[in-house]
Amino acid sequence: MTYRGQHLLSVKDISLESIDELFRVAELMRPYATRQKMTRVLQGAVLGNMFFEPSTRTRVSFGSAFNLLGGEVRETTGLSNSALAKGESLYDTAQVLSGYSDVIVMRHPAAHSVSEFAEGSRVPVINGGDGPNEHPTQALLDLFTIKNELARLGQNIQQLSLTLLGDLKYGRTVHSLCHLLSLYHGLKIQLISPDALKLPTAYVDMLSNAGHQIEIGSDLEKGLSQANIIYQTRIQEERFSSEEEAARYKGYFRLNKKIYSEHCLPDAVIMHPLPRDSRNNANELDNDLNEEPGLAIFRQTDNGVLVRMALFACILGVKDQLSKYESEVNWQVGLK
Ligand code: CP
Repeated sequence: MTYRGQHLLSVKDISLESIDELFRVAELMRPYATRQKMTRVLQGAVLGNMFFEPSTRTRVSFGSAFNLLGGEVRETTGLSNSALAKGESLYDTAQVLSGYSDVIVMRHPAAHSVSEFAEGSRVPVINGGDGPNEHPTQALLDLFTIKNELARLGQNIQQLSLTLLGDLKYGRTVHSLCHLLSLYHGLKIQLISPDALKLPTAYVDMLSNAGHQIEIGSDLEKGLSQANIIYQTRIQEERFSSEEEAARYKGYFRLNKKIYSEHCLPDAVIMHPLPRDSRNNANELDNDLNEEPGLAIFRQTDNGVLVRMALFACILGVKDQLSKYESEVNWQVGLK
């Protein structure tokens, strides 16, 4: 895809070339995202940020990314606060909202709902997560983080040994990431989950067909031992048929400082799409790892802003005009 004037609904639409271009533009965003400079390249543009399912990172980082480019954000949160609760169709909602916006980001609990919405939209629509189906921009920022973290260790993507850990059955971020990893060849991928939460066969086949070396198991310590990148996930309790069923798997894998220092490679990178479940019965990624240099979870969330800024700049056709609308930052940045 070329991005300009296009929807981003699925990772299946993305080629390796378009990923490389997006990541090149994302790097250009670093001075603006870290407040060394500002740009008003999207002054006057409006983002419709429509979140019909809970979100912290995706909603706020999309909004921040648009603001950092000089644009305005209008948003709605929760199905019950929208006219969808009165029976309005996704098509009608899209017709209306696309009259108010230059680009729309949407999250919705139903699979394929964002594509249905896009059919009624007169402006580009970005999928911010459609139920258990896809989360394309999370996969992009995850891949961006994997490449950056490997580079920090003096390695490249062909040296990736990735352990995907936790709820691989329902985790849409894992499914979307598998699609992007299938664009590469010959990587090492370990799939570690409880038996009942294995990665669906279609994704395993996709990874195998790309020529990756796949290991499947449920032994945490073995799964961690060969990884230079560990990608931990949350048990997706909202996708289970009952709370009791989800509770069976909460806390099944707990990654903490002791396990990390005893079983992981030195410098192994820990990623997580977040939120991590820090409640006592889960505690899947312990706070005692917070000071570990390998814990990349907040570098990962920061990268989300860069990648989402790049997407807006590419979709709205301003990626080559950033510096033309640039100015100095005149406030104190960060803590003194
Ligand atoms: N990773 C992610 O999608 O987080 P939110 O649910 O907070 O948006």
